[in-house]
Amino acid sequence: MNKQLAEFQEHLLKSKKIVALVGAGLSASSGLPVFRGSQGMWKNYNSIDLATPDAFYIDPGLVWQFYSWRRYSALQAKPNKGHEALAKLSHIPELKYLTISQNVDGLLNRKRNDELDDTYIHDPRKLYEIHGSLFTLKCTSFMCNHVERNNFHQPLTPVLEDTEFEYLNKGKKRSREDEGSVQEQNIDPIDIISRQDTFASTSSSPQFQPVKTIDEKNLPRCPICEGLMRPGVVWFGESLPLDLITGIDNFIEHGEAPDLILVIGTSGTVYPANSYVERVKLKGGKVAIFNIDIDDDVVEGKVDRVWGFKGDAAELLPLALEPLIGKI
Ligand code: OAD
Repeated sequence: MNKQLAEFQEHLLKSKKIVALVGAGLSASSGLPVFRGSQGMWKNYNSIDLATPDAFYIDPGLVWQFYSWRRYSALQAKPNKGHEALAKLSHIPELKYLTISQNVDGLLNRKRNDELDDTYIHDPRKLYEIHGSLFTLKCTSFMCNHVERNNFHQPLTPVLEDTEFEYLNKGKKRSREDEGSVQEQNIDPIDIISRQDTFASTSSSPQFQPVKTIDEKNLPRCPICEGLMRPGVVWFGESLPLDLITGIDNFIEHGEAPDLILVIGTSGTVYPANSYVERVKLKGGKVAIFNIDIDDDVVEGKVDRVWGFKGDAAELLPLALEPLIGKI
């Protein structure tokens, strides 16, 4: 590890152009769950199954409850030192730098506390949030397409209030009984969403707040046309914002080649994000992976032009980047 770290830092100091590819693992130690593996669940649902246009079309109330909980969790969370290390990197004037983030939690855009200066917030010009943001809302009407950014209201509508707490009686402010249109949902009728009943089946398991059936009129509505609003995130099967994808292509392909790509807390399973690592390598750049789960060969330095730093990105990143960004 020390030899690898020394080699990495030597390369880091020589690098003129750096890309970072960020995934859910960066926010894990801020308390936000990752998508894949045992944590990738919301109540009895697989998070990935809820992140689809089909799930929203079939039951927008169910999907809004999931996103309302994610908004609440993200607002409760604080950026960690890993976020701050990337923010610091983005403010080095002589460095050509870009963060490609798959995260929608907004933690790179916030400070841990108000006493910290603005170099603890990522330079927005160098941050491409390719999967959108939990705090953007979009109108679903084709005729309108209104987009509302930086909406931090919580809950977004009164019926979404109880969805903030995942478990019964845990941190719950007050109980809100059925408001006419809101009822408990006994059995999930949705085929495409996989239900895993094992979670709630033992007496020692925590009891989830029931998922409700919510009438569309009680979900967030468009201020312009009254249409149904949806979360401003990219769902599976949807296109990524063309301007961002073009910007990334230009950054990687044009001008001098990137010297380094930092691959932080991502399983690298989603295209096109996972293609950027190979593209930087093809241009002659090196790869540094920060993840709690890395192949031994990589950790031991046996893979050409790849360093692997195994552990919590929130701890390892500030340490590894220290020669450039100073102590955090
Ligand atoms: P995943 O859940 O697929 O992967 C998270 C990665 O973070 C895994 O490789 C973990 O080993 C690693 N990890 C967990 N805790 C960590 C920690 N403390 N420090 C470092 N690494 C840690 O999440 P993503 O790769 O972000 O897309 O998933 C990519 C996309 O798939 C998401 O943006 C989302 C999802 O479905 C959409 O919703 C379109």
